[in-house]
Amino acid sequence: MDISDEMTRQAKQAVADFPNAHVFRNNGKDLSAVSGPWRRRLGIGEPLEIDFAFSFMVFQHIPSREIIENYVREVHRLLRPGALFKFQVQGCCNVAHEPQNSWVGVSFTEQEARRMAQECGFEMRHQYGAGDQYYWLWFFKK
Ligand SMILES: C[S@@+](CC[C@H](N)C(=O)[O-])C[C@H]1O[C@@H](n2cnc3c(N)ncnc32)[C@H](O)[C@@H]1O
Repeated sequence: MDISDEMTRQAKQAVADFPNAHVFRNNGKDLSAVSGPWRRRLGIGEPLEIDFAFSFMVFQHIPSREIIENYVREVHRLLRPGALFKFQVQGCCNVAHEPQNSWVGVSFTEQEARRMAQECGFEMRHQYGAGDQYYWLWFFKK
């Protein structure tokens, strides 16, 4: 899933040999792209229950906390209970946050990451890289 036409084009090329891999271009704020016609075509019914979600080098570029938290809520909506969302956010607190700059995303402290887990229905069981550009979080759906 990516907001960019070019990135989804490259991703489709990269997984062309894997018939069960699907690439979606989304609207930059939610996961609604995985519902609708695509699922009907594959005969996947409601509710969609995902076992594992993963995100790398995306949230670290998003300058809005609201959008990142919305994605985390969206992943929660689609995961089955007990399932893992492993993802990475910007953890570096020394970077000045510029709302119009889509290179440096909003950063999270450990406390903020724990609060986000709690508010989005997850348990934060592991973390790695607090204070770093690559701050990894392991959120398990309650
Ligand atoms: C450094 S690239 C990494 C791409 C890919 N995740 C990877 O690991 O190769 C950052 C990606 O984040 C995407 N991105 C930025 N803001 C986004 C948003 N709000 N929603 C979805 N994708 C976004 C960009 O289009 C870009 O492809």
